[in-house]
Amino acid sequence: MPPLEEALLVPSSPGRFKIYRPQSHIMNRAFHRCFASTTMVLLWALILIAFTASYLTFVDTGNRYLHHSSFWDHGGIGGIQWEKKVRSSAQILRADGISVLVTGAAGFIGTHVALALKTRGDGVVGVDNFDNYYGPSLKRTRRALLEAHGVFIVDGDINDQRLLAKLFDTVAFTHVMHLAAQVGVRYGVDNPYSYVHSNVAGLVTLLEQCKCAGRQPAVVWASSGSVYGVNNKAPFSESDPANPPASLYASTKKTGEEITHTYNRLYGLSITGLRFFTVYGPWGRPDMVYFSFTRNISEGTPITVYRVKDRVDLARDFIYIDDVVKGCVASLDTSGKSTGSGGKKKGSAPYRIFNLGNSISSPVTVPAMVRILEDSLGMKAKMDVTDVTGNVDFSFPHVNISLAQKELGYNPTTDLQSGLRKFVKWYLWYYGKPSAHLNQF
Ligand SMILES: *[C@@H]1O[C@H](CO)[C@@H](O)[C@H](O)[C@H]1NC(C)=O
Ligand SMILES: *[C@@H]1O[C@H](CO)[C@@H](O)[C@H](O)[C@H]1NC(C)=O
Repeated sequence: MPPLEEALLVPSSPGRFKIYRPQSHIMNRAFHRCFASTTMVLLWALILIAFTASYLTFVDTGNRYLHHSSFWDHGGIGGIQWEKKVRSSAQILRADGISVLVTGAAGFIGTHVALALKTRGDGVVGVDNFDNYYGPSLKRTRRALLEAHGVFIVDGDINDQRLLAKLFDTVAFTHVMHLAAQVGVRYGVDNPYSYVHSNVAGLVTLLEQCKCAGRQPAVVWASSGSVYGVNNKAPFSESDPANPPASLYASTKKTGEEITHTYNRLYGLSITGLRFFTVYGPWGRPDMVYFSFTRNISEGTPITVYRVKDRVDLARDFIYIDDVVKGCVASLDTSGKSTGSGGKKKGSAPYRIFNLGNSISSPVTVPAMVRILEDSLGMKAKMDVTDVTGNVDFSFPHVNISLAQKELGYNPTTDLQSGLRKFVKWYLWYYGKPSAHLNQF
């Protein structure tokens, strides 16, 4: 609503304004002349009524605007249209379905999980801050893909308390799939606060919201295999003590496990932490090595391969996205209920942690991975092999997934060869014909 003063400002010369004030002696003369007859009195009364009526209408529209749109300063969040989209996206379309808030929904795993839930008839609402960590264009395309399937993604940050409150006011979520995070290991050297902002502060803001809900949702969230830290014992098991974290990313994920444990004990929130290992596949993260190997090989640029002096090649435990999605969905389905309400604990609730890694073809050597990519692309890689000397920890992260197998029925079925083939197929399609993005599913 424009302030009333503005209506009295009239331009005197370009770019300058003077205040237009009716002068009092002119007013007095006009007053006497005008009220000389009863006709004029009636006329004035009519004008007054008309003015009051239009003023009230103006104030009313102004208030409506204030409450539903300008109050939320980012793109109509909280508006009537916004609420409609959120509600429609959260609608459950199957018996015993769940309604899930997916954070980081425009991310790699988030997109796949949101799509899987929506496809089976669950209600899904996404939230994502579309940060610039690996360029926003892939995230925007993933969003378009989800929206084409009826999943609405709110453009916002999990640190925004008002946004979260508004979302929980609009939908009584039964579950939260918390995948929003600052990822990457080397990025932490130059951007330490980004990890604290997303992985610690953002996590607490989200848990506060879940804790305060009248009917607390169950929370499933992304921890990381990196919490095993500098560890030479293989395979990693959930019961192993965690070692000193090797990166800020790992520290904040380990901190997240402590924080979620606290919320579970104090407020009765049902918590499931998933320790993801190296997840790969279509719509994957461009900052990951398999992605950049594929890009370089397809463009004919060299790739750097590290080799330690005893000829053992650095390898990671790769896990295909479809297998991970099954683990995520099974975690939601078996989460058990939170017990608290409005910030008060009413009983104990489950606290679980699972390794989501691979067991069938792991660990994998880097040259083996490069050979698969070469075959899938039909091109030869130019390799810069760098011998690594010195005291570098190149242990094979080999994961024990028997707990997830037992509790979640988690059973990865995609071996590296077929998984990477599917990735390369997607890669060539995505970067070859950008206009056909949405026909993939
Ligand atoms: C891919 O090529 C770029 C330069 O074109 C290089 O900076 C990068 O390290 C290469 N990626 C890998 C994984 O070797
Ligand atoms: C794997 O994990 C399960 C469950 O946590 C545990 O009982 C088992 O001893 C572990 N196996 C190995 C080889 O560490």
